[in-house]
Amino acid sequence: MNTDRETPALSVAELPTAPGRLPLLGHSPQLVRSPMKFLESLASIAPLVRVSLGHRPALVVTDPALVHDVLVRKGTSFEKGEQFENARVVLGNGILVAGRKDHLKHRRILQPAFQTGAIDSYGVLMHREATHSVAGWTPGETRNIQQDLDELSLRIAMTTLFSGNLPQAVASEVRTWLPVALKGVALRAVLPLRRWDGTRLATTTRFHRSGEHLRNAVEELVKAAEAGSSNADMMNRILDATAAQTEGHISQAQARDEALSVLVAAYETTASTLGSLLLEVSRNPRVEQRLLRELTENIDPSHPVRTSDLRRVPYTLAVVQEALRLHTPGWFLMRRAATDVVLGRTLIPKGTEVIFSPQALHHAPSVFPDPHSFNPDRWEDTPAKSLPPGSYLPFLEGRHQCIGNHYALHEMVTILIAVHLRWKLRVPASGPQPRHVFRTVMRLNGLHMAVTPRRTGNEGED
Ligand code: HEM
Repeated sequence: MNTDRETPALSVAELPTAPGRLPLLGHSPQLVRSPMKFLESLASIAPLVRVSLGHRPALVVTDPALVHDVLVRKGTSFEKGEQFENARVVLGNGILVAGRKDHLKHRRILQPAFQTGAIDSYGVLMHREATHSVAGWTPGETRNIQQDLDELSLRIAMTTLFSGNLPQAVASEVRTWLPVALKGVALRAVLPLRRWDGTRLATTTRFHRSGEHLRNAVEELVKAAEAGSSNADMMNRILDATAAQTEGHISQAQARDEALSVLVAAYETTASTLGSLLLEVSRNPRVEQRLLRELTENIDPSHPVRTSDLRRVPYTLAVVQEALRLHTPGWFLMRRAATDVVLGRTLIPKGTEVIFSPQALHHAPSVFPDPHSFNPDRWEDTPAKSLPPGSYLPFLEGRHQCIGNHYALHEMVTILIAVHLRWKLRVPASGPQPRHVFRTVMRLNGLHMAVTPRRTGNEGED
């Protein structure tokens, strides 16, 4: 058992239960209908609050210090748990869903593919895809910008993983089935569908079929990379690293599962952050103007960004950091106690499902004054490293910290430069307004924006 020096004073049964629990459904309706209102409200009740996901009990950790304990100080006492086990049906056994004992092995396989040199080489493909994508926009039209960003980020993920020239049919299989898989995983986090997944009828559902389609499509791409018939950059690094780290090569099935994990982790996360960012910037002309000035003065948009360039654009990085705070893609995450463990002053029995919401932590007024406003300036005086542990976790921390965080930053800055230096974006006042929806990733629905070419000298003007 992992214990603190003090004797645990409370058992889980003594913790407060969140209000509004319904028979059979528990707190699931609140988590489906207005999840952030519900999750943010729990911090005022207690550092640990009991909830029910349908009939399944779980604990919500609302105190940043205790979330830090779950992820770092006592990280070895927790495993990924239910949320990720549900994803195995479609993802097989890649890094995202790897069990506690295997996880380090997966991490070592992927690490070389995410080093700075590698990311600079992916930057060339990111630049090519982003420039090509925005060059096709027509002045004055209104576009579904979130859809554009989704497609672009998926293309970037596929291109950097597999090759500069993807077979169209395989790419469109992934584009069709990945959203189905993600939706199924999200539903299974809050609804009791797991038992049903074990039945024969369940294998005919779109969720289960999505796994089969994705595995087949990605396996084709892995085979091409292994046979050397593509110049698959990231996949070749994964296959090379595998040979170096293990006695022999991993199987094609293993390489396929790692690739699927990377695709799932990369899809929607950067795109949804960028959607929120572009919306916030369009609503804050002062931010828009300063961003434009910094990028114009420091970046040559005709060249791919290099990691070393990022030092010259601190305000741009603050804008990204603020978008990740205000609209955190990984808004709802879960772990399971792998041993009995003490959290704060409570003994958490082995097997307890634990929930935490980085998005709720990012809205704590004690850490982020005026937490619901978009204010990149807040990062000038308060670097993220100076905040109390567990307060700012867009990429998490500890063993499962996002391995793609530098890749994601590189991609977001690359796309931001391609869009922002060329186009001014506005949500038309008369049309439907975008709103956030909460799936596996928090994202914007209905982000329709009018696009106007920027003219020299009209920076920030409305
Ligand atoms: C803004 C963009 C992104 C955000 C906010 C983000 C956030 C996260 C978070 C919160 C986790 C931890 C999930 C958990 O353990 O509960 C994670 C893990 C992961 N992310 Fe990201 N991610 C982003 C982009 C990417 C990209 C672009 C890639 C790959 C190209 C990627 C690859 C991964 C992988 C492989 C893991 C699993 C790491 C592990 O378990 O060791 N992510 N990400």
